[in-house]
Amino acid sequence: MEKIKTSKNSLVITTEVVCPNDVNPMGILQGGRLVQWMDLSSAICAQNHAENICVTASIDSVSFKAPAMIGDIITIKCMVTHAFKTSMEIFVQAWSKKVKDNKMKLINEAYFAFVAIDEQGKPMKVPPFKPSNKEEKIKFDNAEKRRKLRLKKS
Ligand SMILES: CC(C)(COP(=O)(O)OP(=O)(O)OC[C@H]1O[C@@H](n2cnc3c(N)ncnc32)[C@H](O)[C@@H]1OP(=O)(O)O)[C@@H](O)C(=O)NCCC(=O)NCCS
Repeated sequence: MEKIKTSKNSLVITTEVVCPNDVNPMGILQGGRLVQWMDLSSAICAQNHAENICVTASIDSVSFKAPAMIGDIITIKCMVTHAFKTSMEIFVQAWSKKVKDNKMKLINEAYFAFVAIDEQGKPMKVPPFKPSNKEEKIKFDNAEKRRKLRLKKS
């Protein structure tokens, strides 16, 4: 029987520290570096779900809501919102926090689409996903609409 997976099976939370090599001359975290960290974390999340190698197919709705500064601690949370035939949508959020402060500030949110591939690089089937609560169900129900939009744009 096909294994149905939930967000608990694939949830990824990673942390980073903003170092001198990650910032612009103003000491602000570079957007590309943050997206790189989000991409890596969400790839692990997709691979947890698929139990296979996955590639990034697209990144959409990336919004930089607030800057993070050198020395800040970045927390990145990745959750599967829907699994289609060979692709999955991952919702990624990033927060920054000062070392001497417990307040986490939301700095970025984005949807990543990943495709599971076989050894020849051909898309392969992923397990189905079942939302576990009301919040997940809303994201799950709206995922088809987002998927149509991103495929139309690509
Ligand atoms: C993503 C990729 C595997 C899709 O391969 P393809 O042969 O074009 O695949 P298909 O058209 O048969 O579609 C396969 C799945 O990918 C999805 N897909 C294709 N392009 C997509 C896009 N731009 N955004 C989101 N999903 C996409 C399709 O919707 C389909 O999903 P489904 O099976 O769940 O319905 C291929 O385009 C690729 O290898 N791209 C490069 C990936 C890469 O190098 N990423 C960066 C490094 S990780």
